[in-house]
Amino acid sequence: MKIIAGNFKSNLNRKSTIGFLKSLDSTLDNISNKEIYIFPATSSLVENNFKHIILGAQNAHYAESGAFTGEITLHHLEEFNIKTILIAHSERRNLFGESDEICATKFDFFKERDFRIFYCIGESLEVRESGKMLEFLDSQISKIDLDYQNLVLAYEPLWAIGTGRVAKAEQISEIYRFLKSRTNAPIIYGGSVNEKNASEILGICDGVLVGSASLKVESFYEIIKG
Ligand code: PGA
Repeated sequence: MKIIAGNFKSNLNRKSTIGFLKSLDSTLDNISNKEIYIFPATSSLVENNFKHIILGAQNAHYAESGAFTGEITLHHLEEFNIKTILIAHSERRNLFGESDEICATKFDFFKERDFRIFYCIGESLEVRESGKMLEFLDSQISKIDLDYQNLVLAYEPLWAIGTGRVAKAEQISEIYRFLKSRTNAPIIYGGSVNEKNASEILGICDGVLVGSASLKVESFYEIIKG
């Protein structure tokens, strides 16, 4: 079963997200062997009751509810029956200052509540070129439970996210083998995945996490179809 996940980031408003989800869901009747996830913007979350699509949250604070201005918590996800969350995306880490410790605290909180957790890791170009890439990736996963049954590990090299510069097959294979030596969780790849390169990548790892090419039903459907 391959995992195909779309991360809408801060794109598509509620109206266009609902239109997207309905339209995509209705085209997926003949698709099998694929688990399809969409992570819409927080204000576009809707009831998680599609036939073929599982909805996840891009982010939430690690609390049931409370005084956390600007954040949503478990309580809000439960309202929509959402049981999937993206944690540690590089934009959360780099733009919003989420450290490995914060990401791990989030991981533990949602793990205790049996969430499907997509946990992101990935090196910068600088780290890659320093020769310390595997050490770095190891440190990014060192604080989470790699035996957690509901974990999906997303390898997203920073230099490939939103750049159009997708990692080469051998680079993805190297990291895939390395991470598989650490965990039995599915390992997916993200970073400039599109309808042209997705099938090759899906031949190497267990799925893809797609940003910009997930924003149009047509291109995302092509990726799913493979
Ligand atoms: P991209 O984003 O496909 O636009 O590179 C991937 C991601 O950030 O998850």
